[in-house]
Amino acid sequence: MSVKSILFVCLGNICRSPMAEGVFNRLLKEKGLQDKFEVDSAGLHGYHEGELPDSRMRAHASKRGYDLTHRCRPVFQTDFDQFDMLIGMDEQNIRGLKNLAPTAEHRVKIYRMTDFLTKIEADEVPDPYYGGPAGFEYVIDLLEDACSGLLDTLITNH
Ligand code: 4NP
Repeated sequence: MSVKSILFVCLGNICRSPMAEGVFNRLLKEKGLQDKFEVDSAGLHGYHEGELPDSRMRAHASKRGYDLTHRCRPVFQTDFDQFDMLIGMDEQNIRGLKNLAPTAEHRVKIYRMTDFLTKIEADEVPDPYYGGPAGFEYVIDLLEDACSGLLDTLITNH
């Protein structure tokens, strides 16, 4: 299996995408596949650059045993060369990534997180920022399902 690089992308890079990174990294660890993947996350805007994930996201993550230590950073055009897959959380993220992609060849690297769901039916990982605790729990439910589906897909295809 060649090393596969994945960039999870959301709007602020303080809730959904660092959570996706944490979930995917734990799955890799459980399967002993850490050295086969390079995983990072980024946001379409850089308002929170350098910050840890949102304290609410970290608290909900912690209840399920995840320690989120990512530092917020924006998506760069060079990420389209550096990563094999750039995975957005909702339609707005996909549109933002398409606008940022330097060429059509880079655009084919853009994926939607919910395309990898195998249990829950949804077409977006909704922004939990202005909502309550249930929204954060739902984000983790979706990401645990989708990250598992993503890893199974990648293992099957290689
Ligand atoms: P995220 O959530 O895209 O899942 O990180 C958000 C975080 C911050 C903001 C919006 C969404 N914000 O507008 O600051």
